[in-house]
Amino acid sequence: MQDFETVEVSTDLLIIGPGMAGSGACVEAAHWAKKNNLKVTVVDKAAMERSGAVAMGLSAINQYQGENTPVDYLSYVRQDLMGLCRDDLVMDISRHVNGSVHLFEGYGLPLWKDENGNYVHEGRWQLMINGESYKAIVAEAGKTAVNADNIYERVFIVKLLLDKNDKNRVCGAIGFSVRENKIYIFKCKACLVTAGGAVHVFRPRSTGEGMGRAWYPPWNSGSSSYLTTTAGAEMSSQEVVFIPGRFKDGYGPVGAWFLLFKATATSASGVNYMGEGLAEGGELHNWPPYGEVKPIPTCLRNHLMMQKMYSGDGPILMHTDKAIAKLAEQAPDEKAYKKELKKLEAEAWEDFLDMTISQAVLWASKDVFPEEGPSEIMPSEPYFIGSHSGASGAWTSGPEDIQTDESKSDYFWGYNRMTTVNGLFSAGDGVGNSSHKFSSGSFTEGRIAAKAAIKYCVDNTDMPEADSAVVDKLKQDIVAPLKVYEENCAYTTLGATKKRYDMPVEEVNPYYITPKMAMFRLNKIMDEYVAGWGNQYNCSATSLNLALQELKRLKEDLSKLSARNLHELMRCWENVHRVQIAEAHTRHKLFREETRWPGYYYRTDFPKMNEEKWGDVFVNSVYDEEKDEFKLFTRKKYSLVDIKEVVGM
Ligand code: FAD
Ligand code: ADX
Repeated sequence: MQDFETVEVSTDLLIIGPGMAGSGACVEAAHWAKKNNLKVTVVDKAAMERSGAVAMGLSAINQYQGENTPVDYLSYVRQDLMGLCRDDLVMDISRHVNGSVHLFEGYGLPLWKDENGNYVHEGRWQLMINGESYKAIVAEAGKTAVNADNIYERVFIVKLLLDKNDKNRVCGAIGFSVRENKIYIFKCKACLVTAGGAVHVFRPRSTGEGMGRAWYPPWNSGSSSYLTTTAGAEMSSQEVVFIPGRFKDGYGPVGAWFLLFKATATSASGVNYMGEGLAEGGELHNWPPYGEVKPIPTCLRNHLMMQKMYSGDGPILMHTDKAIAKLAEQAPDEKAYKKELKKLEAEAWEDFLDMTISQAVLWASKDVFPEEGPSEIMPSEPYFIGSHSGASGAWTSGPEDIQTDESKSDYFWGYNRMTTVNGLFSAGDGVGNSSHKFSSGSFTEGRIAAKAAIKYCVDNTDMPEADSAVVDKLKQDIVAPLKVYEENCAYTTLGATKKRYDMPVEEVNPYYITPKMAMFRLNKIMDEYVAGWGNQYNCSATSLNLALQELKRLKEDLSKLSARNLHELMRCWENVHRVQIAEAHTRHKLFREETRWPGYYYRTDFPKMNEEKWGDVFVNSVYDEEKDEFKLFTRKKYSLVDIKEVVGM
């Protein structure tokens, strides 16, 4: 094994993961850092220009308030999350998000405009964009603000470092270059973790060559959660995954079809399952009060779809053809009709070409013409994405001015978006209970967190320091999978036995486990026992406890992960990160003894929602790394505003 060089970087604020939230953080932090003569450093496992969930681009900005108030938005989010959200965090993003969207436009992002120069809305909150280069445009602004010299790309952060004299204060992070034999040690006063959510924890529906395809990007592997959890930060709602209903196999999003094109989806026998659920006596009335008011919460839309599928009335069809025809029919004459039809066809393709190119490629390769016939949609595997319609993430301080006297003691401890670890901040997918922030809200939350983190650096001028023995041990642990491979590759029983990179992967070996095999093992546990699609999203205390036993065994075997090169070393650590969020998720699911989000998961031993016991509480946890133990408990939910009427789509 070759030697690794150690590179040390000292800074004031360290931003880990410049995706949407991290790019917003760069812009804001640079501004305040300049005023206070502070240094901002950024580190990304990939190349910032195309990193994170927006790498392929997006076709809409899903959070824009326009003239709506923060309370309007809160009413929508609270309803969608079946009553459980942090009102302060949601309203805080809402009141600042318009400014972020206007910044995007200033950076050069093309937003659709109508003939009067107004933004074209997809739905009440969503704006249409020509967004193929969305991330490149936003990243350019972030990069320019912090200056290229302060950006470290293709460096994977493995772990956060804590102050040797105060275990509740962050002092840096350690990681490695995925291109050169270098270990990086970052020393900082404050750290902002914006490393996205997690995919490939659950078995994806795609198999074989298609396995890398998922809705959520496979390169987000649970690092936000791992980094904050193992630093000892309190986490929240780790049970609330997001399962998006998506076009089959390509995972193309459905929002534009439902909202912009006003399409309907039906079961195989032609039942409009959402209409049926809403009608008098329909299934939605079994989930009061959330099921009885429009818009139908995301999980309940899934639930209705799943009920049809699992009663044998699948597949589910999205009637793209009928939607296009209905819109075109509004044209005044034959010529205008033809023109409108062409325009709608182009928009349908652009929706995917801007955001999920693979879906457009799949349609093309399968000779799908959306104007001629319907396409199949289905619920995907569960993802961890606190910025969308899931809610998992860190428990953070909120803004002071939105609190009530009651909420202040639980929701506010000084610096906005600081976790329970001093100096450690988060945003975007990293923060729980403030869903529906999407790309624009994540960018906004990154700005909010970065401003507060710079304030923290101004107030806390001393430089904390890690224990050198801890750092030395981590340096060895990080590269250990390379050593495991070197020492054991000759025992391989399937694949090549020599270090030949042109040979098939040495897949089966009695002394090591490849990162891919570790992921398959994790996927199987989660799918079968923790409510993946393979078990029709069902779990119970029995299955969850079985999962915990299997996860314990898997965790033991992670010390036998092997890597042939730096790329595989990254794959190893991605799986270590995934396993952590998998365990946290399983424990949270076990703790909450009810089914609150049908369509995301079903506790078959507690098949109903229990408002009395669980309607007013979040499930939170703290992990003790030394003991390898989780502590689970509830935190009270405060309603900061009385909402009489739910504001819709
Ligand atoms: P990300 O943007 O994913 O950024 C995470 C960053 O962390 C990346 O830079 C990544 O490289 C880095 N990172 C991860 N792990 C590490 C590590 N260990 N070390 C160093 N760096 C690391 N939103 C909309 O507004 N409109 C839409 O139309 C829309 N469509 C979507 C379509 C798809 C297919 C998907 C997946 C999402 C969509 N979203 C949409 C949601 C939006 O993309 C997310 O809400 C947003 O990107 C979340 O921002 P984030 O900063 O938390 O995470
Ligand atoms: S995306 O992030 O991949 O684009 P998606 O297409 O599901 O997600 O949703 C985009 C936006 O439309 C989100 O704000 C989502 O909540 C909303 N949305 C999608 N489908 C519906 C629906 N049937 N009713 C109401 N809102 C919807």
